[in-house]
Amino acid sequence: MALDIRLILHSLLEEYILPWDGDHGVAHWARVFENGLRLAEQTGADVQIVRLFAVLHDSRRVNEATDPDHGPRAAEFARTLRGRFFDLPDHEFRLLHRAYAGHTHERTHPDVTVQICWDADRLDLGRVGITPHPSRLCTGAAKTSEMRTARRELPPLGRSSLREPWLQLRDHPSELGCQHAAVTPGQGAVGLQARGRAAQMGDVRQG
Ligand SMILES: [Fe+2]
Repeated sequence: MALDIRLILHSLLEEYILPWDGDHGVAHWARVFENGLRLAEQTGADVQIVRLFAVLHDSRRVNEATDPDHGPRAAEFARTLRGRFFDLPDHEFRLLHRAYAGHTHERTHPDVTVQICWDADRLDLGRVGITPHPSRLCTGAAKTSEMRTARRELPPLGRSSLREPWLQLRDHPSELGCQHAAVTPGQGAVGLQARGRAAQMGDVRQG
């Protein structure tokens, strides 16, 4: 079964309750995706796992601030999608499950693919004004000054299969047929409440 990121994105956004353009929304997933692909080229990490991590790791958040259980929720959500939207052998799925479950609170992991998933996420802390310290990253590839200080907007055209869906969601949400189409990204009641809470707490530092 070919991995269809667009199909997965469509499916998970049906139930995604936060703003699509929030701190942990679709643009963040796209940058994590791009970071992950760059790092995988240098380290040999499993690209399918890295891609699936990027699009799903924050998809089960219930707020933009402190939500320590969103990783395990993403892991279980991925279990329900396995076999319907993607296939992975048991060993690879265990690594993916592990990457979701531990991405907010664990420092590192023996497997390089899990390391790359976590580094790809942490490298996007620049979106909230934080340059990740090397000690918070797992791999030498991620600890370079270039990777830590890069400020990416969207992945370059053709580089990431998330670029097109992201642009479509931003500009023409109804074309993907999502139920949230009537809500302007970032302006939904839940989203505004979440952003308000995050601002009050000054805490959006989880990847
Ligand atoms: Fe994240």
